Amino acid sequence: MITLTVIKADIGGYVGHSSMHPDLMAHGREQLEKAKGRGLLIDFHVTRCGDDLELIMTHDKGEGNDRIHRLAWDTFMGCADCARKLKLYGAGQDLLSDAFAGTVRGMGPGSAEMEFEERVSEPVLIFMADKCSSGAWNLPMYKIFADPFNTIGLIIAENMHEGFSFEVHDVKEHKKVTFNTPEEIYDMLVLIGAPSRYAVKAVRHRPSGEIAAVSSTDKLFEISGRYVGKDDPVLIVRSQGKFPAVGEVLEPFAFPQAVEGWMRGSHFGPLMPVGLAQANPSRFDGPPRVICMGFQLSGGKLVGPVDMFDDPSFDEARTKANRAAEYFRRHGPFEPHRLPLEEMEYTTMPQVMKKLQGRFSAL
Ligand code: 13P
Ligand code: 13P
Ligand code: MG
Ligand code: MG
Repeated sequence: MITLTVIKADIGGYVGHSSMHPDLMAHGREQLEKAKGRGLLIDFHVTRCGDDLELIMTHDKGEGNDRIHRLAWDTFMGCADCARKLKLYGAGQDLLSDAFAGTVRGMGPGSAEMEFEERVSEPVLIFMADKCSSGAWNLPMYKIFADPFNTIGLIIAENMHEGFSFEVHDVKEHKKVTFNTPEEIYDMLVLIGAPSRYAVKAVRHRPSGEIAAVSSTDKLFEISGRYVGKDDPVLIVRSQGKFPAVGEVLEPFAFPQAVEGWMRGSHFGPLMPVGLAQANPSRFDGPPRVICMGFQLSGGKLVGPVDMFDDPSFDEARTKANRAAEYFRRHGPFEPHRLPLEEMEYTTMPQVMKKLQGRFSAL
């Protein structure tokens, strides 16, 4: 069995929240190289999306392993020190605890992990987003694994025809429920169509039960109780064979869906699929970006990556995203560009209401 672990954190932005300083990535690579040298990791790839550092790791230690999580945590701490020296913006932003306690879960960083038996050929796609919240994967996961207008394999591939099951998390009440698709899609959509509350955590192949996809659902706001930054989530998808083809997995991103995030984590905006070189959100700190790194696994080695959205076939999606960004921006501080009051994580509402105390009178 092999475990594929992706752990990410914003440990300091360069410049502002737009990108990542090369020194931080160099430090990350150095630490993971050492861990590979002492046999803790089989392989790794360090990348970034916007201002988020992404540690992609393979090992044989299983999910939620404390040594792997500690490695990620210590690496982020070291990177945050580099960030402080350079006075980068928001150094250590997502490291919400001073002491490591066995797992990065609930401490600020986002994580997605899956353990599986590597197939004869094992293509995996790793999606990483910046300036958006963790429910952003609901729509693409639905389309990839349950929508025949996206994934023709659901109709014409014998090994996919029985559909997939979706593990859905209530991120506020900390409960989960599993839906079988296609027969339960109407019930499931009632929940996952509200991605600020319900997030698809995992998808499994029916009837084998094999893991097909896992996302990070960590909600920074739920952890810290105050705004420190957006979740900027990750998603791992296995592809081909009994899983959707690479092109079926990428296809939903041709539509730049509106996601929560963008400026001060308080706006809706289009999720723009980009190659790594374009993952530096700058206009109004956005619009939100998603990158995808594709690998073939070989005995746990990460062969790759291919920068999947570095493809002119996604130019139209980027153009659409820019048009949608312009449309949203014209609303300025008004909804539905600005998030509804209860979703805004950055607000002066309490101060303003305090100031207005006594000035309200009955209608
Ligand atoms: P190949 O015939 O190139 O294997 O393609 C099959 C497939 O899965 C295309 O999506
Ligand atoms: P990040 O979550 O990417 O740090 O962005 C925070 C922000 O407030 C951007 O305006
Ligand atoms: Mg940031
Ligand atoms: Mg970020």
